[in-house]
Amino acid sequence: MKQIVLTGIKPTGTPHIGNYFGAIKQAIEMSESDEYDNFYFIADYHALNSLKTAEELKNYTKELACTWLACGLNPDKVTFYRQSGIPETTELCWILMNVTPKGLMDRAHAYKASAEANIAAGKDADDGVNMGLYNYPILMAADILLFNTKFVPVGQDQKQHVEMARDIAKYFNKKYGYSLVVPQERIQEQTATLSGLDGRKMSKSYGNQIPLFCDETVLKKLIMSIKTDSTLPNEPKSTDCTLFEYIKVFASEEKIVEMSNRFAYGISWAEAKMELFNIVNEIISPMREKYNYYMEHYSEVEELLKKGEAKARLIAKETLERVRKAIGVN
Ligand code: TRP
Repeated sequence: MKQIVLTGIKPTGTPHIGNYFGAIKQAIEMSESDEYDNFYFIADYHALNSLKTAEELKNYTKELACTWLACGLNPDKVTFYRQSGIPETTELCWILMNVTPKGLMDRAHAYKASAEANIAAGKDADDGVNMGLYNYPILMAADILLFNTKFVPVGQDQKQHVEMARDIAKYFNKKYGYSLVVPQERIQEQTATLSGLDGRKMSKSYGNQIPLFCDETVLKKLIMSIKTDSTLPNEPKSTDCTLFEYIKVFASEEKIVEMSNRFAYGISWAEAKMELFNIVNEIISPMREKYNYYMEHYSEVEELLKKGEAKARLIAKETLERVRKAIGVN
């Protein structure tokens, strides 16, 4: 049997190019070799926490599903589903809570960061913290352990969560006998921290993102607005800048060499931005067409998700049956 690779993305915003290079592209490439059995899903229950309205959750889920497909996810190869389509996840989550020490959750980075920010602002440590945020890592452990996952490709920021899933699997196995596969993280390094338009980390809260599938005129405008230094046209330019960072992730090896020469010879910023726009647009255009198609024919996407969910649930039910038996409720 092939080893299981599983990863999820939260639908908490419109997908941007940082998401593509940080996670989606590599996950899709990993699914193209037939080496693993791949499970990729939309972590909608994990998004509940940070979204304000039902409308937002619906729209971001739709955009994310269409994005995965537009970027090349092949639903014949990948089990593609929504977390909320697998009710076994939340049942397993409850069971896992009972082998998870509270102290482990107290040490979770996301929870600690919010407690520290609250204290710094003179508020109660738990101000605005709900149990969804607090138990977030246990739900994530359930996502992972339900499918006998061996490898979890994630960015550095999720490393601790996968380690927690591993700990939780071990606690369960120790108490009830071996029932859960112990997972490992696969850290996706290189491009996990693509800068935003202003040079800071690309983030919704800074408003400095380049959406993956905005239309061409918007894309051009955004690229033209990338922050650059005041070097004059004809003066040599440093490649240590946001603009060149994008060139490095989007362009071919050859083009990168050509562009670094042109930087040395003093290409103007306007010209460099035009070049970047052309490079980016050439890669994104065919994906954008697919994206627009799926957005307009979303019932087709929903069909695919439902099929994925039916397939995923067969395995989820098996695991849950094993777990229920182990704990004595069957
Ligand atoms: N917490 C992950 C993130 O914010 C998303 C996620 C939820 C996930 N469940 C998962 C990732 C299981 C990998 C495996 O990016």
